[in-house]
Amino acid sequence: MSPEQYIKTHIRTVPDWPEAGVQFRDITPLLSNPRVFRVLIDQFVHRYFDVRPSAIAGLDARGFIIGSVLAYELNVGFVPIRKKGKLPFTTVEETYELEYGSATVEIHTDAVKRGDRVVLIDDLIATGGTMMAGRKLLERLGAEVIEGAAIVDLPELHGSQRLRDSGLPLFTLVSFE
Ligand code: PRP
Ligand code: HPA
Repeated sequence: MSPEQYIKTHIRTVPDWPEAGVQFRDITPLLSNPRVFRVLIDQFVHRYFDVRPSAIAGLDARGFIIGSVLAYELNVGFVPIRKKGKLPFTTVEETYELEYGSATVEIHTDAVKRGDRVVLIDDLIATGGTMMAGRKLLERLGAEVIEGAAIVDLPELHGSQRLRDSGLPLFTLVSFE
């Protein structure tokens, strides 16, 4: 079995959560099993080891779990992009549309420097709105997002295509159609 298939078999699908009709792709079984957690992190370490990014930026909240471990393994810093109201220092913010309503994410203004080459990571890409907002924040601070990365892509929601069409290279490990 390929690492990608091994990882996919450890993602749990929860029907009708958080609302009827949604098939929620739950990554917690990937994290609780140490063998599959290592295989998962190693996929990203191998991808980015020679790239030598300046930092790993992770999206609130599940992007923090894999992003911080990846940053540690690559010996670079970790930058959290948080939901509004959680970061204590000066921030810039970006608001994006959800299916119903909107959401706002923030980054500390000193989290990256002009010219930094950053990998932006999350657990999952659905509409792509969260990753697009994170990318805009990093770019507003003068950093270059060299790639967006996620464990799961939900291609039916067209987020990964939108992100690629906007010029962002993307690396995802598994897809659920
Ligand atoms: C989920 C997921 C991604 C985002 C993907 O997080 O972890 O961050 O949604 O959706 P999108 O591609 O349509 O933007 P959620 O906003 O549910 O937050 P949480 O991590 O706090 O549960
Ligand atoms: N899993 C986790 N996060 C999500 C999902 C999902 O299936 N859909 C939108 N955000």
